[in-house]
Amino acid sequence: MQLLVTGGAGFIGSNFVRHVLRTRSDASVRVLDKLTYAGSRENLAGVLDDPRLEFVEGDICDRATIEAAMEGIQAVAHLAAESHVDRSIISAEAAVETNFTGSFRVFEAARAAEVERVLHVSTDEVYGACFDEPFTEDDPLNPRNPYSATKAGADRLAHSYFVTYGLPVIIARPSNNYGPWQYPEKLIPFFTWRALHDEHLPVYGDGMQIRDWLHVEDHCRALMLLLENAPSGEAYNIHGGNERPNMETIRLIIDELGKPESLIRHVEDRPGHDIRYAMDASKIAAVGWKPQIEWERGIRETVRWFADNLDWMQRAIARSRDYFEQWYAGR
Ligand code: NAD
Ligand code: DAU
Repeated sequence: MQLLVTGGAGFIGSNFVRHVLRTRSDASVRVLDKLTYAGSRENLAGVLDDPRLEFVEGDICDRATIEAAMEGIQAVAHLAAESHVDRSIISAEAAVETNFTGSFRVFEAARAAEVERVLHVSTDEVYGACFDEPFTEDDPLNPRNPYSATKAGADRLAHSYFVTYGLPVIIARPSNNYGPWQYPEKLIPFFTWRALHDEHLPVYGDGMQIRDWLHVEDHCRALMLLLENAPSGEAYNIHGGNERPNMETIRLIIDELGKPESLIRHVEDRPGHDIRYAMDASKIAAVGWKPQIEWERGIRETVRWFADNLDWMQRAIARSRDYFEQWYAGR
């Protein structure tokens, strides 16, 4: 299989590329990545010189670039995105451009190249906040922040390409991922970094918002299963089965690092903060997937991984100083 992975130098993308190269000896992978602040060649350390991996630096929004990237490709895993909610609140522009228009370019190029499979990685955020029973794939989408609105747009655009043009698309809707190589703007790596430097931990509001944590390795197994086995035109929820209030996750990070709870500071909330994400994942369970990595062990190992890779974190944060200064001013 000749696989194109967009966003393959980001957090989930780089884990996915490693997963594919490790588990599919017949696969070769082309990564197309713009290398924004969130992406780095470094994230592919250990596989960059694998002869089955080709790395292309480029923008999915650029028509000629994405068309060239599709040449000789059988399957596409589309992960490239502006993935951070807080940044999309400061300015939605990059998210609209990459997540919606960029996804449009990917689907168009895949259609023109007659690619056999397109896995579109959406998110649980497209359903919006959950106040009742966990969402199933048939529930309406109700995104409530600019990031999730662009992802919902792309999710439905992907579906429309299946219905209208017969593009063989599968849509994955994963919950919050955690694991190695996550850019340190997201809760777990960011709080690990700050706790290690004895800096306060800026908890939005009361910290009782609920996220369902999914280890990135479990997620990669699910993506591969869907890419290879799911019927086109279907959407699948993927969750870790670990719904936790943020405070519980934060206390576990602190505990693993042996730091005091006095580092916790409740700060101004994220505007439009979704109180809870929750999905029913019985549809993908029926295809033969369930998460394997136990939450507490997974979080502790991940926190250790960040603590052991502080140079990598330092370089990642340095790519984005302005953002941290702007968003956390007063928080
Ligand atoms: P990330 O921010 O770590 O990585 C995104 C990658 O995309 C980076 O390497 C970046 O350089 C690249 N990229 C951005 N704009 C691009 C463009 N215009 N052209 C080419 N490459 C571009 O994101 P992530 O956390 O790995 O998320 C990957 C995908 O999974 C995204 O689509 C995201 O919406 C989705 N998702 C993430 C999570 C999560 O918890 N991280 C959960 C659900 C869904
Ligand atoms: O649910 C899937 C989504 O998960 C993905 O689609 C997104 O790409 C990914 O970024 C993630 O979104 P969240 O907004 O849930 O992740 P984040 O790590 O930014 O925040 C997790 C929770 O922690 C959220 O409730 C906000 C809170 N938080 C986060 C930060 C960075 C804080 O309280 N303080 C912080 O400084």
